[in-house]
Amino acid sequence: MQSLAAELDRLRRLHRLRSLRLPSGVDFTSNDYLGLARHPALREAVIVALDDDAVVGAGGSRLLRGHHLAHAELEEFAASFFGAGRALYFGSGFLANFTLFTTLAERHDAVVFDERIHASVKEGIHASPAERYRARHNNLESFTGELKRARENGARRIFMAVESVYSMDGDLAPLRGLSDLANRFEAVLVVDEAHATGIFGKSGRGLGEGLQNGRWITLHTCGKALGVSGALICASVETIAYLINKARPFIYSTAPPPFLARVVKRALQLIDEEPWRRERVLKLAHLAHRELNPEATFAGSQIVPVIIGDDEAAIAVAEAVGPQSALAGGHLTTALVYDVTGRLPGAEEKLKRFISITGRVGDVLNESWRLVFGAKSKGGEAALPFESFLFEVRKSGKPDLRRAGRRQSVEEARAAK
Ligand SMILES: Cc1ncc(COP(=O)(O)O)c(C=O)c1O
Repeated sequence: MQSLAAELDRLRRLHRLRSLRLPSGVDFTSNDYLGLARHPALREAVIVALDDDAVVGAGGSRLLRGHHLAHAELEEFAASFFGAGRALYFGSGFLANFTLFTTLAERHDAVVFDERIHASVKEGIHASPAERYRARHNNLESFTGELKRARENGARRIFMAVESVYSMDGDLAPLRGLSDLANRFEAVLVVDEAHATGIFGKSGRGLGEGLQNGRWITLHTCGKALGVSGALICASVETIAYLINKARPFIYSTAPPPFLARVVKRALQLIDEEPWRRERVLKLAHLAHRELNPEATFAGSQIVPVIIGDDEAAIAVAEAVGPQSALAGGHLTTALVYDVTGRLPGAEEKLKRFISITGRVGDVLNESWRLVFGAKSKGGEAALPFESFLFEVRKSGKPDLRRAGRRQSVEEARAAK
């Protein structure tokens, strides 16, 4: 056990020790990009589902009596929504990615992956017997080189693993070029749309909307913009049938609660019913970028990283704006520590600037909130304008930086209820 304590100590010294904290204040960090997690229609969907189906838990694995009409209806709806042959619902995006690569990528196969791909894909690739080829981030030339190497090494099947919107930097993958490469090298292109589903594409289907072909497999997480939980793998009828028959995490695990499947279906419908949400979040992201990152190029998505400099400084900033806010899903999110030393020097100055700017952004947003949404109510919903991942203002009024640095304990949260 000593080694556990020693490792924790090491992390503490490196300022990388993580801890759990309850949310409060202005939300600049969650993945509830569209504010659907609090949408009345989804709360209603939970109640209706529980009334109609009368079960909370699935009761077993999908192949052992845990398959319910709610799952079947969600998957049918999702396949048509995302324009895929078939869809399969998993309990989480991590599990879905892990399952995909451990099941499909076999011995004599190869996986060419973007170096910044999500941990869930990396874990899946590492646990699979396929050969791994690491391509430089968003670099088509590097992908071409690695695909060539895989072919020369006699790979039977090649999988390419990319995200469409990268979760740390918020930048977009060159999907058209990657798709062309997949065609040229007869590879399967696996696109993790976790941060694009519900936001990108003409109708919110993801950044790959309109580009997909039979070589694509897409993953759509349901716990981010869709505001619920779980993930949908969209692929050909044959691929999904293969997963159902061979994927051990799918076969030997209790199915997600059926009511969640109903709520996810309702969330997908909301993507069509309320396109203003995705338009708004991208406008707000642009505004945040201008205020916080004027010297950098806009990555193009709702994820606006502010790179402070090093872990210690990043944590100091996160602590300073602590319960009120931290910056959008990226290097400075609550406990996301990422060694970016050297990418942006001047941590101290950044810290001061960030704190003052956070206040300003809060003011701007609150003001726009009152002007634009204050008097309105959308679809019976109380006007909660910044109920999006970037700018949720849970209480009106500007962020109170005097409370900076204080974490809310579980006891305090209970007392405040
Ligand atoms: C790119 C990407 N893929 C997959 C996941 C995992 O999704 P989930 O949170 O549903 O497990 C995440 C979430 O952290 C992600 O950012």
